[in-house]
Amino acid sequence: MKQPIQIAVLISGSGSNLQAIIDHQKQHPQDYEIALVISNKANAYGLIRAQNEHIPTKFIDHTLFDSRESFDQTLQQTIDKRQIDLIVLAGFMRILTPQFTQHFLGKMINIHPSLLPKYTGLNTHQRALEAGDTEHGLSIHFVTPELDSGPVILQAKVPITPQDTEKSLKEKVHQQEHLAYPLVIEWFAQGKLEFKDHQTWFEQTVLSKPQQLHDVISL
Ligand code: GRF
Repeated sequence: MKQPIQIAVLISGSGSNLQAIIDHQKQHPQDYEIALVISNKANAYGLIRAQNEHIPTKFIDHTLFDSRESFDQTLQQTIDKRQIDLIVLAGFMRILTPQFTQHFLGKMINIHPSLLPKYTGLNTHQRALEAGDTEHGLSIHFVTPELDSGPVILQAKVPITPQDTEKSLKEKVHQQEHLAYPLVIEWFAQGKLEFKDHQTWFEQTVLSKPQQLHDVISL
């Protein structure tokens, strides 16, 4: 029987996505296990969420390192010590070095709160509102050295209404994130998802455009 894959989740904050993954994992223990949660922030609430579930945690304080490279090296060694099959960035607020992303190429995914390629970087909800967009959403992608630019696996869209504020839009996107991220992890764990030739493959076929959440689950 196939063993569950081991995942590491990297966070810097609240960890609501981590919580969604924890809750999903309990329903799918045959697919994956959360072997480790790493935070670069001591007070990240996600660390408490993990500890509540007896998941091993590690705090690596980035302020103690004199360069991005040395922090990433320690991060890499921490992950490499365990048999980790997939690294899940869930609100990990660090730009990663090309060496790090290259080392884990095809084994690391990120969730970004915009419909990439729109709005890489920060303040995505505010930027979508200011641009007068009528829809917004999230993207889950394989991580490559270019910030928020790896091949997108799955997107979920939410409508922007005239009543929306940054807060309400963020909440709408978060709700979809909590459905989308566990699903992509499950696909990877089941061997449905692969990164090859700088492209995303889903069930042995190149994804020419991202999957849409509403097409793949009934909401
Ligand atoms: C999410 O909006 C995610 O898209 C972004 O960081 C946020 C993390 O939220 N990368 P949480 O810590 O999981 O609540």
